[in-house]
Amino acid sequence: MKRKLAVMAMAGVLAVSAVACGSSTTSTDSADTATESTDAAEESTDAAAADSASSGEVANADKPLVWFNRQPSNSSTGELDMAALNFNENTYYVGFDANQGAELQGTMVLDYIEANIDSIDRNGDGIIGYVLAIGDIGHNDSIARTRGVRSALGTGVDADGSINSEPVGTNTDGSSSVVQDGTIEVNGQTYTVRELASQEMKNSAGATWDAATAGNAINTWSASFGDQIDVVVSNNDGMGMSMFNAWSKDNSVPTFGYDANSDAVAAIAEGYGGTISQHADVQAYLTLRVLRNALDGVDIDTGIGTPDEAGNVLSSDVFTYNADERSYYALNVAVTADNYQDFLDSTVVYAPVSNQLDAEAHPTKNVWLNIYNAADNFLSATYQPLLQNYDDLLNLNVEYIGGDGQTESNITNRLGNPSQYDAFAINMVKTDNATSYTTLLSQ
Ligand code: BGC
Ligand code: CA
Repeated sequence: MKRKLAVMAMAGVLAVSAVACGSSTTSTDSADTATESTDAAEESTDAAAADSASSGEVANADKPLVWFNRQPSNSSTGELDMAALNFNENTYYVGFDANQGAELQGTMVLDYIEANIDSIDRNGDGIIGYVLAIGDIGHNDSIARTRGVRSALGTGVDADGSINSEPVGTNTDGSSSVVQDGTIEVNGQTYTVRELASQEMKNSAGATWDAATAGNAINTWSASFGDQIDVVVSNNDGMGMSMFNAWSKDNSVPTFGYDANSDAVAAIAEGYGGTISQHADVQAYLTLRVLRNALDGVDIDTGIGTPDEAGNVLSSDVFTYNADERSYYALNVAVTADNYQDFLDSTVVYAPVSNQLDAEAHPTKNVWLNIYNAADNFLSATYQPLLQNYDDLLNLNVEYIGGDGQTESNITNRLGNPSQYDAFAINMVKTDNATSYTTLLSQ
C-alpha cells in the first residue's frame, strides 16, 4: 500500500501505464489500440521523468537485466540464447530446474497410481488411461514436464535422443506413434498405461497455457471417452484446476498440476491429486535480488549464497547457479495429500530471505518489470504477489506491466522510455524474442 502511493506520487506517467495495463488482457486489437493511444501521453511525461531519474548517466544497455520464468532460448531446439543471457555483465536468468521438477511430477503421478491400483481403473478394462494438458509446445519448461510424465509412465517414445514431447491429439485406441502404451507392474501384476489424449492449450487469439481451453478440452474428451479417463495430468495448475472444476472433481478423477498455486493446494483436500512447488518464493526473491546486488555494485552472491548484513541467505537445497548459463534455478518440491498443509499460501515470502534491507545503505531504485500474460494463473496469483512482497524488503520501486500473452509489442509498447528506470526484469511472451527487448535497451 505504502509502496503504491509512493509510486503514484513520484511520476504521473505510471498512472497512465497502469490504465493501459488494466485494459490489455481481453483481445489483441483493443489492447494494442489502448496502448497506442496512451503512447503520446507517455512520451511527453517520460521526457520530464528522465531528467530527474537517478540513473540518467548509465546507458540503458548497461543497466542490470534479469530474464525470468521464460529462458531466452530457441523454441524449436531448446538451445539457450547466450547472446541474450550475456546482454551485459549484469544480465541473468532466474527460473527453476525444469528437469528435476518434471521428474518429480512424473514420479508423483506414478506413485499415486501404484498406491491406488485397486480402485484407479474406473472402467475395469485393465488400461490406466490419462489425458494431458500441454502448456506451450515451444516452451522448454512445458516440454520438460510432458517428457517427465511420459518417462515415468513408460509412454514416451524416442525422438532424436530425447522423449517426443508433441501432443498426440486423441489416442484412445493406442495407435499413436507420438507415444506408446506403457506398462507398470504392481504386486506382481502388469497394467497398461495409455495417454488417451493430449493437446496444447492455446486459445484462438494465441495465448498459451490457457486455462479456459483446458476446461473445454476436458469437456470434449470426457463426453466422448470419459469412462476411459482414470487420471488427468497438466503442465500447470491453471489448466489443471480448470479441468478439475469442469469435470474431474465431480467424477473423482485424480488431477495433477504444477506450480502449487494456493487454489490448487487447497483443492488437494477435495481430491486434486497433487502439484509441484517450483519454489516461486525463492525465484521471486532471486529475480529482484540480482538486480538489487547489481545496482548496489556488490558481489552478485550477496544475500543469495552469502548472507547479507540483514541476515538474508539461501541454502543450497533450494537453488543452484549455473555460471555458464548465467542462470539461477530454484529447486522443486512435490506437494501431495501428505504435506499440502505446509503450502496453503503460495504468496508468503521465504523466511530465510525475509529481512528488510536498510534504506540508507540500499536506496530506492526504479525497476521496470513485465508479466507476459496478466491472465496467467501462476504468474498473477503466485509470482507477482511474491514480487510485491520482496520489492518492499529490497527497497525497489517496481512498475508492473501485464501483457496479453500474445504479442511482445503489447508489452514493449509500454517501455516507452527505458531511461527512467534503473533496471529491468523481463518475462517474454515467446522464448525466442529476447531481441524485441534488447534492441529497445540498445537504442
Ligand atoms: C509455470 C506456468 C506458467 C508458465 C508461463 C511456468 O513456469 O509453471 O504455470 O503458465 O511458466 O511461462
Ligand atoms: Ca481404464
